[in-house]
Amino acid sequence: MPLVSTTEMFKKAYNGGYAVGAFNVNNMEIVQAITEAANELHSPVILQCSAGARKYAQQAYLVKLVEAACETTDIPIALHLDHGADFEICKECIDGGFTSVMIDGSSKSYDDNIAVSKKVADYAHDKGVVVEAELGTLSGVEDDVKVSAENAQYTDPDQVVDFVQRTGVDSLAIAIGTSHGAYKFKPGQDPHIRLDILEEIVQKLPGFPIVLHGSSSVLPKYVKIINDNGGALKDAIGIPEEQLREAAKSAVCKINIDSDLRLGMTAGIREHMFAHPDHFDPRQYCADGRTYVKEIVHDKILKVLGSDNKA
Ligand code: G3H
Ligand code: 13P
Ligand code: ZN
Repeated sequence: MPLVSTTEMFKKAYNGGYAVGAFNVNNMEIVQAITEAANELHSPVILQCSAGARKYAQQAYLVKLVEAACETTDIPIALHLDHGADFEICKECIDGGFTSVMIDGSSKSYDDNIAVSKKVADYAHDKGVVVEAELGTLSGVEDDVKVSAENAQYTDPDQVVDFVQRTGVDSLAIAIGTSHGAYKFKPGQDPHIRLDILEEIVQKLPGFPIVLHGSSSVLPKYVKIINDNGGALKDAIGIPEEQLREAAKSAVCKINIDSDLRLGMTAGIREHMFAHPDHFDPRQYCADGRTYVKEIVHDKILKVLGSDNKA
């Protein structure tokens, strides 16, 4: 099946009370793991590339890997730019075959965020590409940008209608307490997201697709495997899966997951190398990383997203 945009995916997800997983990809094994799991469960899926992924693997390689996944599966797959920092990177991805881009103007002033998001939406729509923008700031780490928890702000529900109308974007990423990375809460903190703010936003924007970033759950199983095999991940805490499932039943149509896959890949490789210190064929340890990533995506589709049999 050729690459698709997220328009149809989101319409079906909104009406069906589920969300589509947006998983970050950097290499072949991760692309294969995600798409094999989604294919087995007949689930639509979004593969997204960050600026860091483009720098690491080159856009041309990533596009071809995703095209290969489309050829070898039978599910709708969208290719999305994650956290586009400016118009230029969005344009490069639109021109390079992505079907969806995110313009992340969330660290700019409200008016500057509107201006850049509108510019991207106008360009993208002319080419049949859809656009996600962000209002409110998440804490955590994305590439070289580190936002401390104190500087993160929830999305203001009173701004969302004006923002969406003035930019013309197709979906909106909101800040309701999720954050990037593997350390989302401090030990002893109650790990929760503000579903009440989500509800207020849904009331203001009925029918409009909402996106949640920073939605890894930092599953203890994989943290333990890493630590049992020489790793040192202390106090890694994520978003409880049940809360994300609640959000997915509401207007949240896209849930972004990267850190959980990184943990799975690392767990598989560490476990393999500890058990077989004499191995030096990357196919052996990368295959074990891929197996855990696939298992994680499989579980996300069933436990968090509810997107199985929706392809
Ligand atoms: O939101 C950020 C994603 O986890 C991508 O991370 O920018 O380090 O590739 P990255
Ligand atoms: P996590 O770090 O929680 O996986 O979030 C990923 C993300 O939001 C990518 O845009
Ligand atoms: Zn993100």
